[in-house]
Amino acid sequence: MERTLSIIKPDAVAKGVIGKILDRFESNGLRIAATKKMQLSRADAEAFYAVHSERPFFRDLVDFMISGPVVVSVLEGENAVSKNRKLMGATNPKEAEAGTIRADFAQNIDANAVHGSDSLENAAVEIAFFFSTREIC
Ligand code: CMP
Repeated sequence: MERTLSIIKPDAVAKGVIGKILDRFESNGLRIAATKKMQLSRADAEAFYAVHSERPFFRDLVDFMISGPVVVSVLEGENAVSKNRKLMGATNPKEAEAGTIRADFAQNIDANAVHGSDSLENAAVEIAFFFSTREIC
């Protein structure tokens, strides 16, 4: 059993597809162990994406992530990290396989609907960034 962090990004929240995206997780064997809607501050987004701070897209990424509310969730299930990444599809929606969340709901590489942890190790760090242990059940 694994846990991974999911973020439904501001573009997908603004489109009104929170429920549709959460349904993809639940319909594919990922249990929602925690979830909350929140407005990230600039400091939150910069800290969360600190690993990308030297990348040319960092500023745009942070601006985008604070442009509206997000929904952060802990997903739990067998192979949750890789299962979630498969459900999301490629980072660039133009390359995402048909039927994936990004193919169906994303506009471009910045407004790409969802974030998901890329490893079990990062999942633990990302989950702890947003949730206390008693919020996860
Ligand atoms: P995410 O999975 O949230 O992780 C970092 C985000 O940076 C990524 O999704 C994209 O939305 C965004 N991004 C913008 N440009 C790029 C790029 N060239 N490569 C990777 N990620 C990018």
